Amino acid sequence: TWTMVNIVDEQVERVRAQVGAKRVICGLSGGVDSAVAGALVQRAVGDQLTCVFVDHGLLRKGEAEQVEKDFVAATGVSLKVVDAQDRFLSALSGVRDPEEKRKIIGREFIRVFEQAAREVVEEAGAAGEEVEFLVQGTLYPDVVESGGGTGTANIKSHHNVGGLPDDLQFTLVEPLRELFKDEVRRVGEELGLPAEIVWRQPFPGPGLGIRVIGEVTRDHLDVLREADAIAREELSRAGLDRDIWQCPVVLLADVRSVGVQGDGRTYGHPVVLRPVTSEDAMTADWSRVPYDVLATISNRITNEVREINRVVLDVTSKPPGTIEWE
Ligand code: XMP
Repeated sequence: TWTMVNIVDEQVERVRAQVGAKRVICGLSGGVDSAVAGALVQRAVGDQLTCVFVDHGLLRKGEAEQVEKDFVAATGVSLKVVDAQDRFLSALSGVRDPEEKRKIIGREFIRVFEQAAREVVEEAGAAGEEVEFLVQGTLYPDVVESGGGTGTANIKSHHNVGGLPDDLQFTLVEPLRELFKDEVRRVGEELGLPAEIVWRQPFPGPGLGIRVIGEVTRDHLDVLREADAIAREELSRAGLDRDIWQCPVVLLADVRSVGVQGDGRTYGHPVVLRPVTSEDAMTADWSRVPYDVLATISNRITNEVREINRVVLDVTSKPPGTIEWE
């Protein structure tokens, strides 16, 4: 629309004025905000931008490919992908406690991202250029919440994780600071990003790591990814994407129950469907997904994912239940 065109033009001008001829880094998370912020800065300064995507192996089916292929195709951005799946899995090995999982994932993320940023800085340095700016997908509600400050940051504050030296300093570029989420999505559409990225459900930074109840192993993640993909596909097919805020699918890896599948008794895992409606994730209600949609999801998951023999529905509002299980 006209307003979105204005917003894009205005922010493109501002980014150009701020950045000049210097180089810029943007971390992509697979989420909407970083994708739109990156695309906007790309529109403004083109090749001066390098995006960095850390694949921690905790994304949903197809999400890494969306960043690596669709985002790049839509924006022409220069992308550095770090495949850190093994590193995250070994750091998470044997860990069951939710807070510990969060800490480990945050810590590993920052280490890998810092290393990648360092490489981008070195490569630029070798070419006689200086990297001075870091793109951040801060939205207006984040600005209000944090008291309105802006300016410089090292990478760790960018990711809200502590414990590392302050030797990589950047000035922030925050082209979404004046926008709300729905405006960000419309800016993303205006910039030609694929609908699958722009209309993506909120997804937690620690990803599927906090949707496996129990140990986060490659096998558990693979099972959960398949079940989650089926649930998302059927909810979309039923036209429920805009009614549902998000629908975590949670693998109870520590629980087994008896079932009959195919020609015999099985002893598999349950998954929980957690569809919720919400305005802002502070409170939420379980969404009344039509029974026939739930039936289709349940049938498909238990037919198509061998390890899962039971599908259960979470009917708890928030509070008292959080949206995620961990
Ligand atoms: P809860 O589970 O607290 O989640 O009701 C509220 C919203 O926040 C998301 N969430 C996270 N997002 N890092 C994130 O970036 C996290 O560690 C995290 N934990 C929860 C959750 O998906 C929901 O949208």
